[in-house]
Amino acid sequence: MTPREHIPVLLEETLAFLDIEREGIYIDGTLGLAGHAEEILKRNPRARLVGLDLDARSIAKAQEILRPYEDRVELYHANFKVLPEIEIDFSAVRGILLDLGMSSYQLDTPERGFGHSAEGPLDMRMDDRNNLTAARILDKYPEPQLAQLFREHGELKQAAKLARKIASVRRTQKIESTTHLRALVEEVCHWIPQRGKIHPASKVFQALRIEVNQELDGFGELLTEAIGRVGPATRIVVISFHSLEDRIVKHTLNRLARTEYGPGVIDILTKHPVVPSDAEAARNPRSRSAKLRAAVKRAHGS
Ligand SMILES: C[S@@+](CC[C@H](N)C(=O)[O-])C[C@H]1O[C@@H](n2cnc3c(N)ncnc32)[C@H](O)[C@@H]1O
Repeated sequence: MTPREHIPVLLEETLAFLDIEREGIYIDGTLGLAGHAEEILKRNPRARLVGLDLDARSIAKAQEILRPYEDRVELYHANFKVLPEIEIDFSAVRGILLDLGMSSYQLDTPERGFGHSAEGPLDMRMDDRNNLTAARILDKYPEPQLAQLFREHGELKQAAKLARKIASVRRTQKIESTTHLRALVEEVCHWIPQRGKIHPASKVFQALRIEVNQELDGFGELLTEAIGRVGPATRIVVISFHSLEDRIVKHTLNRLARTEYGPGVIDILTKHPVVPSDAEAARNPRSRSAKLRAAVKRAHGS
């Protein structure tokens, strides 16, 4: 796939909540193929962009895409959890965007192992510097830990059964390919394809991807710390793609919006999460599970 095939999710809604008209720095903590970032730079010549991504290949592609704006762009191959430590003028930051999960570029590259529809190695690392792969988890984690992973991060009903199956199969052979794992899931879950039903392997792959990339670890803390660093009127937009992430975002924003003494450090701009329109969901099926939440940092004492 070429970079240009990437469609940013909830684009207009994101730009509106970020209020990108203002001069200053916009941070994209999950740059991907720079779909959102490019629009910010294109629409506001006074915007500067700081972009981070765990995935070196995505950063390299984003750099190409953003070349026309290079004098206003700073990119980091880094986990967005280091955001509060990056040396930038936080008082000039106007917006922070986190568009979580994986990009279609990652999903559509079979050798990364993110998707179960094509044959590939069970890798799933966003960052090549990470030693933990999905295959290693299936090989090394004790059965109860696998069951817990599939239950908590995949919300899979047959979590214990699948863990038992994996523990039994791995005694005689390594589970190293996406299609092998999918076949095991289909067997355990007695999968019969039905329109509108999510393939159970999607849940299992989600659970493994979250574990490999430690996606939920420290996420709420990062949001809290980043919001603590920025100045008043900075906008925060988070797009999540599964209920576990969305729950963390919701609880963190709610906690920051009030203290036991009264209003907190942010105002929430989305009482309910914003979801894609029917037209967007039809145009870009991958957007269907997206939920956007936004907030704005309060002025002190207001
Ligand atoms: C949904 S995509 C972002 C797409 C982007 N907004 C666009 O329109 O092109 C998510 C990206 O975030 C990256 N990512 C996920 N977790 C990350 C983390 N903790 N730190 C930095 N990047 C992360 C992934 O590698 C992926 O490229």
